[in-house]
Amino acid sequence: MFKTLEWKGGIDGYLALTDQRLLPADFVTIKCQNIDQLIDAIKTLAVRGAPALGVAAAYGLVLGLKDLDNDLDLKTAIEQLDKTSDLLASSRPTAVNLFWALKKTKDLADTFAAQNPNAKTFQLKEILLNHAHDICSDDIRMCIQIGKNGADLIQDGTSILTHCNAGALATAGQGTALSPMFEAKKLGRNFKVFVDETRPLLQGSRLTAWELTQADIDATVICDNMAASLMKQKKIDMVITGADRIAANGDTANKIGTYSLSVLAKYHNIPFFIAAPSSTFDLNIPNGSQIPIEQRSPNELRFFNNIQIAPEKANVYNPAFDVVNAADITAIITEKGVINSPDAQKISDMIGSN
Ligand code: MRU
Repeated sequence: MFKTLEWKGGIDGYLALTDQRLLPADFVTIKCQNIDQLIDAIKTLAVRGAPALGVAAAYGLVLGLKDLDNDLDLKTAIEQLDKTSDLLASSRPTAVNLFWALKKTKDLADTFAAQNPNAKTFQLKEILLNHAHDICSDDIRMCIQIGKNGADLIQDGTSILTHCNAGALATAGQGTALSPMFEAKKLGRNFKVFVDETRPLLQGSRLTAWELTQADIDATVICDNMAASLMKQKKIDMVITGADRIAANGDTANKIGTYSLSVLAKYHNIPFFIAAPSSTFDLNIPNGSQIPIEQRSPNELRFFNNIQIAPEKANVYNPAFDVVNAADITAIITEKGVINSPDAQKISDMIGSN
C-alpha cells in the first residue's frame, strides 16, 4: 500500500509525498525538506484532499521551525510558528482541515510555552512533530471507522457514483468516500462504481479510478456531463462524495460539480451521501454561504496538457468547489456515526466540539 504522505526521520527530517500531479502515468515520491517546497506542493495539488491537507499542515509547522537553532528561546520559535502558520493558511482556503490542524497545533504550542517559559526551541520541535504524528494516526483511524460505518450501504449489485477523489490519496489513511467501498470489498461484496472524471483537473479519472482499480473494484470513468443520463437510465443507486468543509447546519462544500450531482440525485430520487471525518466540520459558520470558495488559475481551463483549448480573450471562471444544501443530503457518514437528514442539532450532538 502506498503512503500519500509520510514524515521521514526525526525533527530534522522531511515530508515525503506521493506526487498526485503525475498519477496515473507515473508513481513518484517527492521530498519536502522545507516549508516553501510544501507550500508549492499544496498550491499545485501534488498533495490535495481535505484530510491530507490537514496532516500536511501539521507537518508543515515542523518544517517551518526546522532551521531554527535548537537552543533558541521559545519566543522566537513561537514567532516562527506563527509566520509558518500564516503561510500555510494562505495556501488553499476551502478545506477546513488545514485550519483545524493549524489551530490545534498553535493551541498546544501556546499551552506548552505558558507552562515552560524557559524551554528551548528543540523541545517545541519535538512536541510539534509528535503532535503531527498524532494528527496523522488519528486521520488513519477516522478513515477506517468511516469505512466501517458506511460499508453496509453497499451490497452486492449496488451501483455507486462518486466525484473527485476522496480516497487514500486525499487522506493519510484509506480515504473517506472510498473507504466504505474498500470495506465492502473486504466483506466480499461485488458492486460497481461510476467515477466522474472531474474537470478541470481530473481527480476522478486520474486518481479515484487508479485507486479503485488497484483494489480490484469495478470502476467505470464517465465525463461529468453523463451523470444525469445514467441516473435517468436507473444505473445509479447512490452517490457518495467527500467534503472540504461542512457548516454547522450540514451545508457541504466539495469539488465543483458536487452541487449539480446533489440536485440530479434529488430529482431522480437517488440517495446522496457525504463521507467526512469530524475534522471537516466547521461549527463556527452557520451555513454554506460563509464557506470560502477557492478560485483557481484560468489556465486550468485555457489549456489542456499545454494545448490551448480556449481563446485568450475569453474570460474564465474557475471556482474549485461548490456547496451542497444540507436538505439534499441523505446522510453524512462520519467516524463517530451516521448523521441521517443532517441539521444543526444532529450535527452538534454527533460532532460536539472538534
Ligand atoms: O481540489 P482538491 O483535489 O483538493 O479537492 C478535493 C475534494 O474536493 C475532495 O472531494 C475532498 O477534499 C474530500 S477528500 C477526502
